[in-house]
Order: sequence, then structure tokens, then C-alpha cells
Amino acid sequence: MSKQKNNVGWTDYTQKYGGRKIKTINPDVQSGSSVLFENFEDMQLALEGNYPGVDYGTHGLSTQKAFEEAICRLENGHRAYAFPSGINAITSTLMAFTQSGDEVLLCDNAYGPTKRFCHKILAKYNVKTTHIESNIGEEISVYFNNKTKLIFLESPGSNTFEIQDIPAIVKAAKKAGIMIIIDSTWATPLYLKSLDLGADVAIQSVTKYICGHSDVLMGCATVNEKYADEFANYFETVENYTNPQDCYSALRGLRSLKVRLQEHERSAFEVAHWLEKQDVVDCVIHPGLESHPQHSLWKRDFLGASGLFSFTFKKSYSADQIAKFVNSLEMFGLAFSWGGYKSLLTARPYKRDGQWLYNGKHVIRLSIGLEETKDLIEDLEQAFKNL
Ligand SMILES: Cc1ncc(COP(=O)(O)O)c(C=O)c1O
Repeated sequence: MSKQKNNVGWTDYTQKYGGRKIKTINPDVQSGSSVLFENFEDMQLALEGNYPGVDYGTHGLSTQKAFEEAICRLENGHRAYAFPSGINAITSTLMAFTQSGDEVLLCDNAYGPTKRFCHKILAKYNVKTTHIESNIGEEISVYFNNKTKLIFLESPGSNTFEIQDIPAIVKAAKKAGIMIIIDSTWATPLYLKSLDLGADVAIQSVTKYICGHSDVLMGCATVNEKYADEFANYFETVENYTNPQDCYSALRGLRSLKVRLQEHERSAFEVAHWLEKQDVVDCVIHPGLESHPQHSLWKRDFLGASGLFSFTFKKSYSADQIAKFVNSLEMFGLAFSWGGYKSLLTARPYKRDGQWLYNGKHVIRLSIGLEETKDLIEDLEQAFKNL
């Protein structure tokens, strides 16, 4: 090999192509493990922990930084971090802010794997988890004790859509010095300004609406100034790494998020209103409908609704009847996750702590994609006949 030092593996195309830089609208997908230092002195600074730049791939290269800066601005945060999945953003944030002896208050409608992590892993480190009602508000303070470190909210919950009264919880928590983390994936940073409402960390499963095409797993967490150093300390120690191509896709997704979300919202409302009129349907569980128990909170705190909601049937159908209905659908894929261009469906019963209206019933969850609304409605209509 010819003698090369700091230009290993790349060519300066400016020289080759008429002295003009090759510039594109989007950032480069910068991937790599080693980051080249300009000189020996910089390497010494890195060894001493005093290098002002990025000194290794695990600290996040430029594509990751571009995504983090964009999401941070949307969330009105102090600093944002990318993670390889939504659940990884959640578990990392919980690890960053808890220690042995702490107690976590977790809303009962949180994403299943979030609950599982708290009970299986945090418990191992002597962090206790207490469930709080999914529609909780200022009465949350009855759960506070001198071990309560943080409150984890998901508003609305992504299956049963109860909404927590964030400002009331913030008021009570701030008085007691307790931090608030919120998974606001349903609303995205466009429809819920979690940090402006007083939360300390906002989490997104980027996998959902931000990427929008069901082809990427990614998450992010945005922290306010108060907790930024504590989070940075954790992140820099654990050295989580997020694939640059995924960061690129997430950044691209952000550019069209607003228009996609508007279409998901419009179409979901149309399907929800149609469902409300169907004889077989008991309840349409959509925070944007007046019939939703916390509709007034949604109206007050949210700037819009995404395309995910549920409904229940009047009758208690057997599992076989539900299977007939579900299997006859042609437009709705059967799959976990949501927020992509293809409509998806899940169907299962849920239990919730506290007052819960749909006990024992199958909750049919629809993620309304970007297909023609008319086709989705026609599909549901023909499938209802199979019940
Ligand atoms: C509300 C919510 N948060 C987090 C996650 C986890 O996201 P990911 O699939 O990116 O791990 C999900 C996944 O379905 C979710 O519904």
C-alpha cells in the first residue's frame, strides 16, 4: 500500500472534479468505528478525556448528530440522543436516572415491554415499580414517598388510549422534586410538546411515525437542561451506538412527518366516525372523539391526533368469531408496531388497574396507514359481515 496517513479510505473529490465540492441537500451517511485525529496532540487530549470533538464511532458520527439536533429542536429540548430502538431509548433512560432503593411510578397503560423491563430488570437492581392509574392526574401525589425518583407516563397509551393530566402531574411532581419521563410516540413531537408542558425527558419510538415506512427500528430521548448532565454521563459511559443509515432514514422521515401525520389523522378520524355508526361497534376509543373519557385533556394539551386508535364490539364474540373477522380483512396487515404507510391491526383483551371500561372485551387496534380511506372502510364493512 502506498504511504497514506490521515486520508486512509477516502478521496478528496474536490480536487478531482474541477475544484468544485460535491454537495447534496441531505447530510452524508457517515459510518465508521475509528475517527482520525488531525495530529498526535489531539490524540493525547482524547486519551486524557479532554478532546473537544467526537473521538470514536460510538459517540455518534455526523449523521446521528444531525438527527439528534433536529429532534432536539422539535421537542424544544436541551439535548437529544438516538438509540437503536424505541424500547432501547426507554430502558436506557430508566437506567440512567435510577439507582438501588429508588421507586418508579409507571402508568398502567404503558407499552408492555416497558413494564416488563421495570419488573424484570430494574427490580434486579432494587428499583421498585408501582403502577399508577392510566388516567391519573393531580391525585398522583398519594403515591409519593421519599423513595419516589421518577414518574414514567405514556399519554395516550398505545393500546387503550387513556390520557394522563400532564400539567397536574407536573405540578405535583415538581413540588416533590420527582422527575417526569414521557413516552409520547403516539403524538410525536409535532402533536405533543412534552417538555413545554413540564416533562423532563420526552421519548419517541422513531420506528413509528418519524420513520413512517416500517423499515427502521430506532428511538430517541430528549432531555431538558436540568437533567442533561446526568443523562450525558450515562450515555457517554454506556456508548450506545445507532446505525448511521437508520439515522439518515429517521432524518428523512422528519422532513415529511407533518404532511404524513395530517393524512393519518384525517383518515383515522374518518374511519373512527364511520365505526361509531356501525351496529356491531360498542365503543371507539380515540382521544379526539368527544366520547373519549379524557377528550377535554386531549383538546387542551395536544395539537392533533395520529392514526392509531381502537374499538370494541357490543357483543362478546368468541376467539373463533374474532379470528373470522380478522382473517377476512384484506387491507389491514396483522403485525405489531404502527405508524407506517400500511394499515395494521391487532386484537386482544386488556386489563387495566383502576376504572377500566372494556374489561374482558377484545380491543381491536387499528393503525390507519396512507391507503385510500374508502378502501379501508369497505374492507372493515365486508369483514364485519363475517362476525
Ligand atoms: C408507545 C410505544 N413506545 C415504545 C415502543 C417501542 O418501540 P420500538 O418498536 O422502536 O422498540 C412501542 C412499540 O410498539 C410503542 O408502542
